[in-house]
Amino acid sequence: MKYKMETDTFCKTAAYDSTDSLLRETDLAIMEIVGGKPLEGTITIQGSKNAALPMMAAALLSEEASELIGCPDILDVRNTLALLEELGVKTTQIKGRVRIDAGKICTTEISEKYANKMRSSIMLLGTLLGRFQSVEITYPGGCVIGKRPIDMHLDMLHAFGVVITECDGRLRAERKSLRGTIYRFLKKSVGATEHGILTAVLAEGESIFYNCAQEPEIISLCTMLVQMGAQIEGSGTSRILIRGVKKLHGIQKEVPKDRIAAGTYLLAGAATRGKVTLDQAPVQEMEAILYVYGKMGGQYKVIGGKLLTDSRKVRYPVRNLQTREYPGFPTDLQSPFLAACLTIPGVSQVEETIFENRFKVVCQLQKMGGKIWCDNRRAVVWGGVPLKGTHVIAEELRGGAALVIASLYASGKTVIENCQLIQRGYENICQDLYCLGADISI
Ligand code: EPZ
Repeated sequence: MKYKMETDTFCKTAAYDSTDSLLRETDLAIMEIVGGKPLEGTITIQGSKNAALPMMAAALLSEEASELIGCPDILDVRNTLALLEELGVKTTQIKGRVRIDAGKICTTEISEKYANKMRSSIMLLGTLLGRFQSVEITYPGGCVIGKRPIDMHLDMLHAFGVVITECDGRLRAERKSLRGTIYRFLKKSVGATEHGILTAVLAEGESIFYNCAQEPEIISLCTMLVQMGAQIEGSGTSRILIRGVKKLHGIQKEVPKDRIAAGTYLLAGAATRGKVTLDQAPVQEMEAILYVYGKMGGQYKVIGGKLLTDSRKVRYPVRNLQTREYPGFPTDLQSPFLAACLTIPGVSQVEETIFENRFKVVCQLQKMGGKIWCDNRRAVVWGGVPLKGTHVIAEELRGGAALVIASLYASGKTVIENCQLIQRGYENICQDLYCLGADISI
């Protein structure tokens, strides 16, 4: 379907219901952007995708219903709800309030229909083993940003005494009992850390995890679980201790705001030299992002929960940025950062230290005239070369966001195909950008 946001009331009314249109566009969604205008105005930052998904899994640990407030209405959330419904979980999603009632799960055989759309579905293995003897799932899907192995997830489950067999791309996990364990992650993994926590909270006895990821979404997951009755110490540090309990009770919990969405809009403002205010941006989680923004020449201040940014003086290339685990510069903003660097004369460089192949968007940016060189770990940008609107294809979520940013700067019209991939993580990206003055339609 095609809609053009004709009226200004569009941004002000909450009447626009992206919910239905979101799903109808999953098979073919095309975005059209005419670039060249500085973004100006205020948008409200959505709930965090990467916090909401593990919190939805946590709700399955209790037979009582839980409700997430401020949950983003994005494809990954909708696909997760549809997956849970197939298990017999009762779910509702009304304007950001997601209710999950896992009191009557009738099967733990997770169909591939949804599981291979999102990598986060792997953590349902350990989550459901807390209440059921066996779980079956298809190898998880997710972005094309590298191999995305799940070796640490499976190795962690083995440490709990879980027996895992694989047949025709299906994983079957079984346990006689779930015994607490001591486990050191080979490398910091957000998903594997979350998976370990979700497995340990109902296991018998004590578990200790070493070399845990320390992203804010780990803290929000642990906070929710503790309020449900779990016993967890050390969340947000590299060592987490969990004492297993018999039962957890339901809870109502606010989903924290999305620092990656906030960083994406901040970089869109930088690319167009605009003045963008990000209401409810989680500034306390954005130190590394704001540091880089300042190095580019961006100016910002925080007033009453709003992050006011002024990119009119953005002009300095960034010579040697490295993506790092939190609190370093997030890998999820690496592609949007590349797009912003294309608008700044001079040589910028970024090293991707988390994933081994997260520069897929480079060839699409080159199609727009971008001068970028990359190997599988590093990208060098010769910024300041004019970009021209053309037909590009989004191949994964954050690369798609980078194409949007480049299109907002480029002269002429850019058509972005596959933008349902962008809607996996951004709740109302078209509406938000339209409210900031972009010439955009989907
Ligand atoms: C989470 O993915 C996020 N997804 C990703 O965001 C984010 O980029 C990533 O963490 C890093 O911050 C969600 O939270 C749903 P990892 P995850 O396990 O958990 C390797 C987005 O755009 N690894 O921390 O899958 C892995 O290959 C998405 O919102 C193993 O080797 O990432 C990577 O190199 C993209 N074996 C590194 O660890 C494993 O078993 C970090 O990955 C697991 C991971």
